Amino acid sequence: MLANHPVAELPDIQAWGVFRYEDINHILRNDGDPFSIERRFDRMPEEQREVYFATGTLVGIDPPRHTRLRSLAGQAFRPNVIEGLRPYAERTSAALFDKVLPRGEFNFLTDYATPLPQAMITEMMGVPDDDRELYYGLTRDIENSMSHYIGMPVSDEQLALGKKAYNQLCALFDPIFEDRRKNPRKDMMTGLIKAEADGEKLTQWELQKMAIFAYFAAFQTTQGLLSNSLVILDKNRDQLEKLRENPDLIPKAIDEILRYRAPAPVITRMTTADVELRGKTIPKGSMALLFLNAANHDPSVFPDPHEFDVERPNAARHLAFAIGAHFCLGAALARLEGQVFLQHWLKRVKDFEIMDKGPLDWEPENINVLTLRNLQVRVETFAQETA
Ligand code: HEM
Repeated sequence: MLANHPVAELPDIQAWGVFRYEDINHILRNDGDPFSIERRFDRMPEEQREVYFATGTLVGIDPPRHTRLRSLAGQAFRPNVIEGLRPYAERTSAALFDKVLPRGEFNFLTDYATPLPQAMITEMMGVPDDDRELYYGLTRDIENSMSHYIGMPVSDEQLALGKKAYNQLCALFDPIFEDRRKNPRKDMMTGLIKAEADGEKLTQWELQKMAIFAYFAAFQTTQGLLSNSLVILDKNRDQLEKLRENPDLIPKAIDEILRYRAPAPVITRMTTADVELRGKTIPKGSMALLFLNAANHDPSVFPDPHEFDVERPNAARHLAFAIGAHFCLGAALARLEGQVFLQHWLKRVKDFEIMDKGPLDWEPENINVLTLRNLQVRVETFAQETA
């Protein structure tokens, strides 16, 4: 597609695909016009919009209205807040590995790649430990019912589950906000309540939406980053050894992993006017799919794009977190989790083998975020681990 059909109509799902880095970069840097994040929900029945982030969240509005909400929400994601979470990430990662490494074999997805991001975002939000599993199930129900707005089939049962999950999450978050008003803490919920720009605060409804969306956005994406890391390093052992010899390369390696396989492979916009691009006309009102993974493998930006190279000089230019107005607010948190994982893995695991010899077990219902359902792994730890 990159070489021959950089802009293509995709009639099966009534959408248009855009593939090249230059085009996607340009679209996102001018977000809102004529590619709108807000209008992409136009096809969705009114009663479903509330559930699917069409209203009230950062990914449901274009600039300039987006700018106000973003500057309010951004205050809860300041670099010092995220960096302050590093010790918690390290403690959590260490505890998870303490539990599973001595077993010699475990499911990396359910035993590490799920609980780490879950712990991080719930810690940021102040969700009680005992409720974490419940929150996880609810976000999966929402996620699995979402693909219909880009024309993919979703059953009535999935839709109903998504709606129910949304209402349950609202009910779970409300008391947390209530509590933070009376007892402020150093967490994201307190940050959202305190956030103020130009004398304005987030309304209760915006608070609810922000919390649900942030929880949702933080979770399966980071799960994808962690499991992709393992799968990619398994297939590129020379790069793994390079990291072991020079751990300073870890931050770069995380960006190369994000470039090599973006956890959210495609994002969507709707055109608000006819758009001429690469000799094609995308008509007004079309759903445009921006293939971030394709852009991240565009040879005009990333030479030898299918090579995984932890020393790639421009790896951080990838679009896995998008760019422009909607650039991922949690990018620093995701990078931090990826780095902590690699540091601990390289220090503790001498060798490993991925047990699934056949095709990987991808979650089939969710095309917004590519996630595995299982990743069984056998490990050999360093001597001091088992001693
Ligand atoms: C590897 C992990 C992650 C990936 C690949 C990722 C990817 C993305 C992408 C592609 C977008 C842009 C969506 C669009 O323009 O349509 C986005 C936005 C966003 N992400 Fe992430 N994300 C990750 C982790 C996180 C985390 C950990 C959080 C929260 C703690 C988070 C919160 C957000 C928020 C709030 C937005 C909306 C920003 C806006 O519209 O202004 N993300 N993310």
